[in-house]
Amino acid sequence: MKKIVTVVGARPQFIKLAVVSRVLRRQAELQEVLVHTGQHYDHNMSDVFFEEMDIPKPDYNLGISGGSHGEMTGKMLIEIEKVLMTELPDMVLLFGDTNSTMAAALAAVKLHIPVCHVEAGNRFGTLESPEEVNRTVTDHVSAINLPCTESSFRFLAREGLEKTATVVGDPMYDAFRYYTDRLDGSELRALADFDGKPVSLPTEVYYMTCHRQENTDTDEKLRNIFDAMEALDAPTVYPVHPRNHDRAARLVREGGYQKIILTQPVGYQTSISLVNHAKKIVTDSGGVQREAFFAGKPCVTVLDFVVWPETMRNNCNQLAKPDKADILAKLSVPVIFDPAYQPFGDGHSAEKIVEKIKEFLQW
Ligand code: UD1
Ligand code: UDP
Repeated sequence: MKKIVTVVGARPQFIKLAVVSRVLRRQAELQEVLVHTGQHYDHNMSDVFFEEMDIPKPDYNLGISGGSHGEMTGKMLIEIEKVLMTELPDMVLLFGDTNSTMAAALAAVKLHIPVCHVEAGNRFGTLESPEEVNRTVTDHVSAINLPCTESSFRFLAREGLEKTATVVGDPMYDAFRYYTDRLDGSELRALADFDGKPVSLPTEVYYMTCHRQENTDTDEKLRNIFDAMEALDAPTVYPVHPRNHDRAARLVREGGYQKIILTQPVGYQTSISLVNHAKKIVTDSGGVQREAFFAGKPCVTVLDFVVWPETMRNNCNQLAKPDKADILAKLSVPVIFDPAYQPFGDGHSAEKIVEKIKEFLQW
Protein backbone atom coordinates (compact mmCIF):
# COMPACT_ATOMS: atom_id res chain seq x y z
CA MET A 1 0.00 0.00 0.00
CA LYS A 2 1.37 3.44 -0.97
CA LYS A 3 0.29 6.68 0.62
CA ILE A 4 0.19 10.08 -1.08
CA VAL A 5 -0.50 13.32 0.74
CA THR A 6 -1.99 15.92 -1.60
CA VAL A 7 -1.88 19.54 -0.42
CA VAL A 8 -4.17 22.21 -1.89
CA GLY A 9 -5.41 25.58 -0.70
CA ALA A 10 -6.56 27.85 -3.53
CA ARG A 11 -9.36 27.80 -6.12
CA PRO A 12 -7.37 26.71 -9.19
CA GLN A 13 -5.84 23.86 -7.21
CA PHE A 14 -9.24 22.39 -6.38
CA ILE A 15 -9.98 22.19 -10.10
CA LYS A 16 -6.72 20.37 -10.91
CA LEU A 17 -7.18 18.16 -7.86
CA ALA A 18 -10.65 17.15 -9.04
CA VAL A 19 -9.37 15.54 -12.22
CA VAL A 20 -6.16 14.05 -10.84
CA SER A 21 -7.71 12.74 -7.66
CA ARG A 22 -10.48 11.04 -9.66
CA VAL A 23 -7.82 8.93 -11.40
CA LEU A 24 -5.74 8.41 -8.25
CA ARG A 25 -8.73 7.05 -6.36
CA ARG A 26 -9.23 4.40 -9.05
CA GLN A 27 -5.81 2.87 -8.30
CA ALA A 28 -5.48 -0.24 -6.20
CA GLU A 29 -3.14 -0.26 -3.22
CA LEU A 30 -3.16 3.51 -2.85
CA GLN A 31 -4.33 5.80 -0.07
CA GLU A 32 -4.68 9.52 -0.82
CA VAL A 33 -4.71 11.81 2.21
CA LEU A 34 -6.06 15.25 1.34
CA VAL A 35 -4.84 18.39 3.11
CA HIS A 36 -6.58 21.76 2.61
CA THR A 37 -4.45 24.57 4.00
CA GLY A 38 -7.47 26.88 4.28
CA GLN A 39 -5.89 29.58 2.07
CA HIS A 40 -9.25 30.01 0.28
CA TYR A 41 -12.15 29.50 2.63
CA ASP A 42 -15.33 31.32 1.51
CA HIS A 43 -18.03 28.92 0.39
CA ASN A 44 -17.81 30.06 -3.24
CA MET A 45 -14.00 30.03 -3.23
CA SER A 46 -13.68 26.53 -1.77
CA ASP A 47 -16.64 24.29 -0.81
CA VAL A 48 -18.46 24.94 -4.07
CA PHE A 49 -15.63 23.21 -5.97
CA PHE A 50 -15.56 20.20 -3.65
CA GLU A 51 -19.34 19.81 -4.00
CA GLU A 52 -19.61 20.45 -7.75
CA MET A 53 -16.57 18.44 -8.74
CA ASP A 54 -17.10 15.52 -6.42
CA ILE A 55 -13.84 15.96 -4.50
CA PRO A 56 -13.65 14.02 -1.23
CA LYS A 57 -13.82 16.03 1.98
CA PRO A 58 -10.27 16.95 3.08
CA ASP A 59 -8.78 14.78 5.81
CA TYR A 60 -7.20 17.90 7.30
CA ASN A 61 -8.20 21.56 7.06
CA LEU A 62 -5.45 23.70 8.54
CA GLY A 63 -7.52 26.90 8.56
CA ILE A 64 -4.60 29.14 7.55
CA SER A 65 -5.35 32.21 5.40
CA GLY A 66 -4.60 35.89 5.00
CA GLY A 67 -1.72 37.84 6.51
CA SER A 68 1.51 38.65 4.74
CA HIS A 69 3.14 36.14 2.40
CA GLY A 70 5.75 35.21 4.97
CA GLU A 71 3.24 34.83 7.77
CA MET A 72 0.87 32.67 5.73
CA THR A 73 3.65 30.51 4.30
CA GLY A 74 5.36 30.13 7.67
CA LYS A 75 2.18 29.03 9.45
CA MET A 76 1.47 26.55 6.68
CA LEU A 77 4.99 25.14 6.83
CA ILE A 78 4.65 24.47 10.56
CA GLU A 79 1.24 22.79 10.29
CA ILE A 80 1.96 20.79 7.11
CA GLU A 81 5.14 19.42 8.68
CA LYS A 82 3.05 18.09 11.60
CA VAL A 83 0.67 16.36 9.19
CA LEU A 84 3.52 14.81 7.22
CA MET A 85 5.20 13.57 10.39
CA THR A 86 1.93 11.91 11.40
CA GLU A 87 1.04 10.46 8.01
CA LEU A 88 4.56 9.55 6.77
CA PRO A 89 3.53 9.41 3.09
CA ASP A 90 5.56 7.96 0.22
CA MET A 91 5.04 11.15 -1.78
CA VAL A 92 3.56 14.65 -1.57
CA LEU A 93 1.51 15.80 -4.57
CA LEU A 94 1.32 19.54 -5.32
CA PHE A 95 -0.25 21.79 -7.94
CA GLY A 96 0.69 25.19 -9.29
CA ASP A 97 2.36 28.06 -7.52
CA THR A 98 0.47 29.33 -4.51
CA ASN A 99 1.80 29.87 -1.01
CA SER A 100 0.20 26.52 -0.09
CA THR A 101 2.29 24.82 -2.81
CA MET A 102 5.62 26.24 -1.67
CA ALA A 103 4.96 25.68 2.05
CA ALA A 104 4.14 22.02 1.41
CA ALA A 105 7.17 21.56 -0.85
CA LEU A 106 9.52 22.88 1.83
CA ALA A 107 7.90 20.84 4.59
CA ALA A 108 8.18 17.66 2.51
CA VAL A 109 11.73 18.04 1.23
CA LYS A 110 13.06 18.74 4.73
CA LEU A 111 11.52 15.43 5.83
CA HIS A 112 13.03 13.69 2.77
CA ILE A 113 9.61 12.95 1.33
CA PRO A 114 9.65 13.15 -2.50
CA VAL A 115 7.49 15.85 -4.07
CA CYS A 116 5.56 15.58 -7.33
CA HIS A 117 4.90 19.04 -8.77
CA VAL A 118 2.11 19.35 -11.33
CA GLU A 119 2.15 22.51 -13.51
CA ALA A 120 5.89 22.94 -13.01
CA GLY A 121 8.20 25.11 -15.06
CA ASN A 122 6.31 28.32 -15.82
CA ARG A 123 8.49 31.42 -15.66
CA PHE A 124 7.81 35.15 -15.92
CA GLY A 125 11.46 36.00 -15.49
CA THR A 126 10.99 38.13 -12.37
CA LEU A 127 10.90 37.27 -8.69
CA GLU A 128 8.69 40.32 -8.14
CA SER A 129 5.77 37.97 -8.74
CA PRO A 130 4.95 35.95 -5.60
CA GLU A 131 3.91 33.00 -7.78
CA GLU A 132 7.30 33.00 -9.55
CA VAL A 133 9.02 32.60 -6.18
CA ASN A 134 6.66 29.79 -5.21
CA ARG A 135 7.01 27.79 -8.42
CA THR A 136 10.78 28.27 -8.75
CA VAL A 137 11.40 27.03 -5.20
CA THR A 138 8.95 24.17 -5.64
CA ASP A 139 10.44 23.05 -8.97
CA HIS A 140 13.92 22.97 -7.48
CA VAL A 141 13.01 20.76 -4.52
CA SER A 142 10.69 18.40 -6.38
CA ALA A 143 11.63 14.84 -7.28
CA ILE A 144 9.23 14.84 -10.24
CA ASN A 145 8.28 17.94 -12.18
CA LEU A 146 5.30 17.60 -14.52
CA PRO A 147 5.07 20.64 -16.81
CA CYS A 148 1.93 21.11 -18.88
CA THR A 149 3.68 22.28 -22.03
CA GLU A 150 6.94 22.07 -23.98
CA SER A 151 7.77 25.70 -23.19
CA SER A 152 7.55 25.01 -19.44
CA PHE A 153 9.75 21.94 -19.94
CA ARG A 154 12.35 24.14 -21.66
CA PHE A 155 12.44 26.51 -18.67
CA LEU A 156 13.09 23.56 -16.37
CA ALA A 157 15.81 22.26 -18.70
CA ARG A 158 17.49 25.69 -18.70
CA GLU A 159 17.66 25.48 -14.90
CA GLY A 160 19.21 22.00 -14.98
CA LEU A 161 15.98 20.19 -14.02
CA GLU A 162 15.52 18.27 -17.28
CA LYS A 163 15.99 14.86 -15.66
CA THR A 164 13.16 15.50 -13.21
CA ALA A 165 10.71 16.70 -15.86
CA THR A 166 8.12 15.13 -18.19
CA VAL A 167 5.49 16.98 -20.22
CA VAL A 168 2.09 15.53 -19.31
CA GLY A 169 -0.37 18.08 -20.72
CA ASP A 170 -2.62 20.32 -18.68
CA PRO A 171 -5.09 18.97 -16.12
CA MET A 172 -7.04 22.23 -16.59
CA TYR A 173 -7.64 21.07 -20.16
CA ASP A 174 -8.84 17.68 -18.86
CA ALA A 175 -11.26 19.49 -16.52
CA PHE A 176 -12.43 21.90 -19.22
CA ARG A 177 -13.25 19.08 -21.65
CA TYR A 178 -14.86 16.85 -19.05
CA TYR A 179 -17.12 19.53 -17.57
CA THR A 180 -17.90 21.38 -20.81
CA ASP A 181 -19.49 18.13 -22.03
CA ARG A 182 -21.74 18.17 -18.95
CA LEU A 183 -22.99 21.80 -19.11
CA ASP A 184 -26.69 22.25 -19.71
CA GLY A 185 -27.18 26.02 -19.29
CA SER A 186 -28.58 25.76 -15.75
CA GLU A 187 -25.21 26.88 -14.38
CA LEU A 188 -25.68 30.34 -15.94
CA ARG A 189 -29.03 30.76 -14.26
CA ALA A 190 -27.26 30.56 -10.88
CA LEU A 191 -25.50 33.90 -11.35
CA ALA A 192 -26.09 36.24 -8.40
CA ASP A 193 -24.99 39.77 -7.59
CA PHE A 194 -23.19 40.83 -4.41
CA ASP A 195 -26.45 40.79 -2.46
CA GLY A 196 -27.36 37.33 -3.72
CA LYS A 197 -30.01 38.64 -6.15
CA PRO A 198 -30.26 36.67 -9.43
CA VAL A 199 -28.55 38.21 -12.46
CA SER A 200 -30.10 37.58 -15.84
CA LEU A 201 -27.41 37.04 -18.41
CA PRO A 202 -27.52 39.15 -21.59
CA THR A 203 -27.24 37.28 -24.91
CA GLU A 204 -23.94 38.92 -25.74
CA VAL A 205 -21.36 39.38 -22.99
CA TYR A 206 -17.71 39.77 -22.30
CA TYR A 207 -16.28 37.70 -19.45
CA MET A 208 -13.76 39.31 -17.14
CA THR A 209 -11.83 38.02 -14.15
CA CYS A 210 -9.24 40.13 -12.41
CA HIS A 211 -7.72 39.33 -9.03
CA ARG A 212 -3.94 39.80 -9.17
CA GLN A 213 -2.48 41.96 -6.50
CA GLU A 214 -0.71 43.96 -9.30
CA ASN A 215 -4.08 44.99 -10.84
CA THR A 216 -6.39 45.24 -7.88
CA ASP A 217 -4.47 46.77 -5.02
CA THR A 218 -4.98 50.35 -6.24
CA ASP A 219 -8.05 52.14 -7.59
CA GLU A 220 -6.32 53.44 -10.68
CA LYS A 221 -5.60 50.19 -12.51
CA LEU A 222 -8.95 48.56 -11.81
CA ARG A 223 -10.73 51.78 -12.84
CA ASN A 224 -8.80 51.84 -16.12
CA ILE A 225 -9.87 48.26 -16.83
CA PHE A 226 -13.51 49.15 -16.04
CA ASP A 227 -13.24 52.18 -18.36
CA ALA A 228 -12.20 49.84 -21.17
CA MET A 229 -15.03 47.36 -20.52
CA GLU A 230 -17.60 50.17 -20.31
CA ALA A 231 -16.61 51.31 -23.82
CA LEU A 232 -17.41 47.91 -25.40
CA ASP A 233 -20.48 46.97 -27.44
CA ALA A 234 -21.87 44.51 -24.84
CA PRO A 235 -21.94 44.21 -21.04
CA THR A 236 -19.22 42.48 -19.04
CA VAL A 237 -19.80 39.84 -16.38
CA TYR A 238 -17.17 40.10 -13.68
CA PRO A 239 -17.24 37.63 -10.76
CA VAL A 240 -15.10 39.37 -8.18
CA HIS A 241 -12.48 37.64 -6.03
CA PRO A 242 -12.93 38.50 -2.32
CA ARG A 243 -9.52 40.19 -2.37
CA ASN A 244 -10.99 43.19 -4.20
CA HIS A 245 -14.72 42.84 -3.60
CA ASP A 246 -15.03 46.15 -1.75
CA ARG A 247 -12.87 48.11 -4.16
CA ALA A 248 -14.76 46.80 -7.22
CA ALA A 249 -18.15 47.60 -5.66
CA ARG A 250 -17.09 51.12 -4.74
CA LEU A 251 -15.49 51.89 -8.11
CA VAL A 252 -18.58 50.74 -10.01
CA ARG A 253 -20.79 52.85 -7.74
CA GLU A 254 -18.58 55.94 -7.96
CA GLY A 255 -17.95 55.58 -11.71
CA GLY A 256 -21.62 55.01 -12.56
CA TYR A 257 -20.65 52.14 -14.87
CA GLN A 258 -23.73 50.66 -16.57
CA LYS A 259 -22.17 47.78 -18.47
CA ILE A 260 -20.22 46.05 -15.71
CA ILE A 261 -22.13 43.30 -13.96
CA LEU A 262 -20.43 42.40 -10.70
CA THR A 263 -21.19 38.99 -9.25
CA GLN A 264 -20.01 36.82 -6.41
CA PRO A 265 -17.23 34.37 -7.38
CA VAL A 266 -18.93 31.61 -9.35
CA GLY A 267 -18.53 27.84 -9.35
CA TYR A 268 -16.33 26.13 -11.91
CA GLN A 269 -19.12 25.09 -14.26
CA THR A 270 -20.56 28.60 -14.30
CA SER A 271 -17.11 29.99 -15.02
CA ILE A 272 -16.39 27.72 -17.98
CA SER A 273 -19.93 28.24 -19.21
CA LEU A 274 -19.22 32.00 -19.20
CA VAL A 275 -15.99 31.34 -21.09
CA ASN A 276 -17.93 29.35 -23.70
CA HIS A 277 -20.72 31.94 -23.87
CA ALA A 278 -18.55 35.11 -24.04
CA LYS A 279 -17.65 37.10 -27.14
CA LYS A 280 -14.19 37.77 -25.78
CA ILE A 281 -12.39 37.52 -22.44
CA VAL A 282 -10.34 39.94 -20.36
CA THR A 283 -8.47 38.42 -17.44
CA ASP A 284 -5.34 38.26 -15.36
CA SER A 285 -5.94 34.63 -14.40
CA GLY A 286 -3.57 31.90 -15.50
CA GLY A 287 -6.48 29.45 -15.67
CA VAL A 288 -8.97 31.66 -17.48
CA GLN A 289 -6.51 32.63 -20.23
CA ARG A 290 -6.01 28.93 -21.01
CA GLU A 291 -9.76 28.27 -20.89
CA ALA A 292 -10.30 31.09 -23.41
CA PHE A 293 -7.82 29.30 -25.66
CA PHE A 294 -9.50 25.91 -25.11
CA ALA A 295 -12.85 27.46 -26.08
CA GLY A 296 -11.46 29.35 -29.07
CA LYS A 297 -12.31 32.76 -27.59
CA PRO A 298 -10.07 35.81 -28.11
CA CYS A 299 -8.44 36.82 -24.84
CA VAL A 300 -6.65 39.88 -23.51
CA THR A 301 -4.51 39.24 -20.44
CA VAL A 302 -3.85 42.26 -18.27
CA LEU A 303 -0.38 41.36 -17.08
CA ASP A 304 3.18 42.40 -17.87
CA PHE A 305 4.39 38.86 -18.41
CA VAL A 306 3.60 35.94 -20.68
CA VAL A 307 2.67 32.89 -18.60
CA TRP A 308 1.33 30.58 -21.28
CA PRO A 309 3.15 31.44 -24.53
CA GLU A 310 1.26 28.74 -26.47
CA THR A 311 -1.97 30.72 -26.09
CA MET A 312 -0.39 33.78 -27.73
CA ARG A 313 -0.08 32.26 -31.21
CA ASN A 314 -1.96 34.28 -33.89
CA ASN A 315 -2.96 36.85 -31.23
CA CYS A 316 -5.41 34.41 -29.61
CA ASN A 317 -4.21 35.80 -26.29
CA GLN A 318 -2.47 39.17 -26.01
CA LEU A 319 -0.93 41.05 -23.13
CA ALA A 320 -2.25 44.51 -22.29
CA LYS A 321 -1.41 47.15 -19.73
CA PRO A 322 -4.17 48.11 -17.26
CA ASP A 323 -4.97 50.97 -19.63
CA LYS A 324 -8.23 51.70 -21.48
CA ALA A 325 -6.70 52.42 -24.90
CA ASP A 326 -4.37 49.43 -24.79
CA ILE A 327 -7.10 46.98 -23.75
CA LEU A 328 -9.49 48.27 -26.43
CA ALA A 329 -6.77 48.16 -29.09
CA LYS A 330 -5.88 44.55 -28.22
CA LEU A 331 -9.53 43.50 -28.17
CA SER A 332 -9.93 44.72 -31.73
CA VAL A 333 -6.95 42.81 -33.18
CA PRO A 334 -8.00 39.96 -35.53
CA VAL A 335 -7.42 36.47 -34.15
CA ILE A 336 -7.04 33.11 -35.84
CA PHE A 337 -7.51 29.83 -33.94
CA ASP A 338 -5.97 26.74 -35.50
CA PRO A 339 -7.93 23.68 -34.31
CA ALA A 340 -4.99 21.42 -35.23
CA TYR A 341 -2.75 23.21 -32.71
CA GLN A 342 -3.28 21.49 -29.32
CA PRO A 343 -0.32 22.34 -27.09
CA PHE A 344 -2.09 21.42 -23.83
CA GLY A 345 -2.32 17.68 -24.41
CA ASP A 346 -5.21 15.40 -25.23
CA GLY A 347 -7.46 15.82 -22.18
CA HIS A 348 -5.86 12.85 -20.40
CA SER A 349 -3.05 14.48 -18.47
CA ALA A 350 -4.41 13.16 -15.15
CA GLU A 351 -3.74 9.59 -16.30
CA LYS A 352 -0.21 10.57 -17.35
CA ILE A 353 0.40 12.25 -13.98
CA VAL A 354 -0.67 9.12 -12.13
CA GLU A 355 1.50 6.94 -14.39
CA LYS A 356 4.56 9.08 -13.61
CA ILE A 357 3.86 8.82 -9.87
CA LYS A 358 3.48 5.05 -10.13
CA GLU A 359 6.71 4.76 -12.08
CA PHE A 360 8.58 6.84 -9.50
CA LEU A 361 7.20 4.89 -6.54
CA GLN A 362 7.60 1.58 -8.38
CA TRP A 363 4.08 0.58 -7.51
C1 UD1 B 1 -3.86 33.16 -4.57
C2 UD1 B 1 -2.54 32.77 -5.22
C3 UD1 B 1 -2.59 33.09 -6.70
C4 UD1 B 1 -3.80 32.46 -7.36
C5 UD1 B 1 -5.06 32.82 -6.59
C6 UD1 B 1 -6.20 32.01 -7.17
C7 UD1 B 1 -0.59 33.05 -3.74
C8 UD1 B 1 0.62 33.85 -3.48
N1 UD1 B 1 -1.43 33.53 -4.67
O1 UD1 B 1 -4.01 34.56 -4.67
O2 UD1 B 1 -1.44 32.54 -7.31
O3 UD1 B 1 -3.90 32.95 -8.66
O4 UD1 B 1 -4.91 32.47 -5.21
O5 UD1 B 1 -7.42 32.59 -6.94
O6 UD1 B 1 -0.77 32.02 -3.14
N2 UD1 B 1 -9.90 36.01 0.71
C9 UD1 B 1 -11.15 35.90 1.25
N3 UD1 B 1 -11.80 34.70 1.10
C10 UD1 B 1 -11.26 33.63 0.47
C11 UD1 B 1 -9.98 33.76 -0.07
C12 UD1 B 1 -9.30 34.96 0.06
O7 UD1 B 1 -11.69 36.82 1.81
O8 UD1 B 1 -11.93 32.58 0.38
C13 UD1 B 1 -9.21 37.30 0.85
C14 UD1 B 1 -8.37 37.37 2.12
O9 UD1 B 1 -8.53 38.64 2.67
C15 UD1 B 1 -6.94 37.28 1.61
C16 UD1 B 1 -7.05 37.87 0.20
O10 UD1 B 1 -8.35 37.51 -0.26
O11 UD1 B 1 -6.07 37.98 2.42
C17 UD1 B 1 -6.03 37.32 -0.79
O12 UD1 B 1 -6.06 35.88 -0.74
P1 UD1 B 1 -4.70 35.05 -0.94
O13 UD1 B 1 -5.01 33.62 -0.85
O14 UD1 B 1 -3.63 35.62 -0.09
O15 UD1 B 1 -4.26 35.45 -2.42
P2 UD1 B 1 -5.06 35.34 -3.79
O16 UD1 B 1 -5.14 36.68 -4.38
O17 UD1 B 1 -6.31 34.57 -3.60
N1 UDP C 1 -13.05 30.50 -11.77
C1 UDP C 1 -14.18 30.12 -11.09
N2 UDP C 1 -14.96 31.07 -10.55
C2 UDP C 1 -14.69 32.41 -10.65
C3 UDP C 1 -13.52 32.79 -11.35
C4 UDP C 1 -12.71 31.81 -11.89
O1 UDP C 1 -14.48 28.93 -10.99
O2 UDP C 1 -15.46 33.22 -10.12
C5 UDP C 1 -12.20 29.44 -12.33
C6 UDP C 1 -11.72 29.67 -13.73
O3 UDP C 1 -12.66 29.24 -14.70
C7 UDP C 1 -10.45 28.83 -13.74
C8 UDP C 1 -9.92 28.99 -12.33
O4 UDP C 1 -11.03 29.42 -11.55
O5 UDP C 1 -10.79 27.47 -13.91
C9 UDP C 1 -8.83 30.02 -12.29
O6 UDP C 1 -8.53 30.34 -10.98
P1 UDP C 1 -7.95 31.74 -10.54
O7 UDP C 1 -8.20 32.75 -11.60
O8 UDP C 1 -8.46 32.00 -9.19
O9 UDP C 1 -6.40 31.44 -10.37
P2 UDP C 1 -5.18 31.36 -11.41
O10 UDP C 1 -5.54 30.42 -12.49
O11 UDP C 1 -4.89 32.73 -11.88
O12 UDP C 1 -4.06 30.87 -10.57
